[in-house]
Amino acid sequence: MPPGRIVEEQLARQRRWLGDSWKWLLSTVVLEGTTAGAERPTALDVGCGPGLVMELLSPYLDVQGVDIDPEAVNACRARHQEAVVGRAEELPFEDGSFDIVYCSYLLLWVDDAVAVVREMARVARTWVLCLAEPDYCGRISYPPEVSVIDDALVKGLRRLGADPKMGRRLPGIFSQCSLVPTAGTFAGMWAAGRMREEADREWEEIVHLTTDILGRERRIELKRAWDRAVAEGTLVQYNPVFYALSKKER
Ligand SMILES: C[S@@+](CC[C@H](N)C(=O)[O-])C[C@H]1O[C@@H](n2cnc3c(N)ncnc32)[C@H](O)[C@@H]1O
Repeated sequence: MPPGRIVEEQLARQRRWLGDSWKWLLSTVVLEGTTAGAERPTALDVGCGPGLVMELLSPYLDVQGVDIDPEAVNACRARHQEAVVGRAEELPFEDGSFDIVYCSYLLLWVDDAVAVVREMARVARTWVLCLAEPDYCGRISYPPEVSVIDDALVKGLRRLGADPKMGRRLPGIFSQCSLVPTAGTFAGMWAAGRMREEADREWEEIVHLTTDILGRERRIELKRAWDRAVAEGTLVQYNPVFYALSKKER
């Protein structure tokens, strides 16, 4: 995992981009048919990080988290979220402990994603959800002067030990775990001016992930092209993010 301050900021951006879509998936697919006033389903957030997704979904779910990183667990507790330290490959819970077991932006960082999803399915009573896994090999940076970013990000992520193609692997991983997935991608849409607003933060994240991949000279040249594209309104940064949902067979 890339360390430091930038990680939590990036997680907050991801929640801002996808939060409404996650709530929509939950209410229209997963919780469909649940009667108003019924008890909230129990849920486990695997690789919960500092608890931003738990915070978002806690109006719908009685959720707790598990993460390998004690600092992440402390950050959850500081947000008044319940969380424990544990490995996704060996979850410290009995079979069928939660109605829903979900993760987001976790699988690209683990060595054996099939083992993790199998373990999620073991502790889930009803639903297994991978709410978001990006696919950097399907990324589009435009105009052509900035497209070198796409390749550099793939190399940077591989260097950090991540799988940049995790998004497209999700349906196959679910099938290997005997889960029948409903899978899809989130369609990105930027309101006018959104790229301009996001450009500085996006550039910071690109530099963070591609240090040592793009040399200093190359980066200065690229930043000029980037700023020009922002000023001209031509900049496009599209990164497909996949999801997969599965209701366990009873
Ligand atoms: C990119 S963060 C995502 C955090 C959160 N799911 C979100 O979307 O905001 C990935 C998290 O997975 C955790 N993680 C990575 N490998 C793990 C493993 N094998 N078991 C449990 N947690 C793990 C990291 O410590 C980190 O907090």
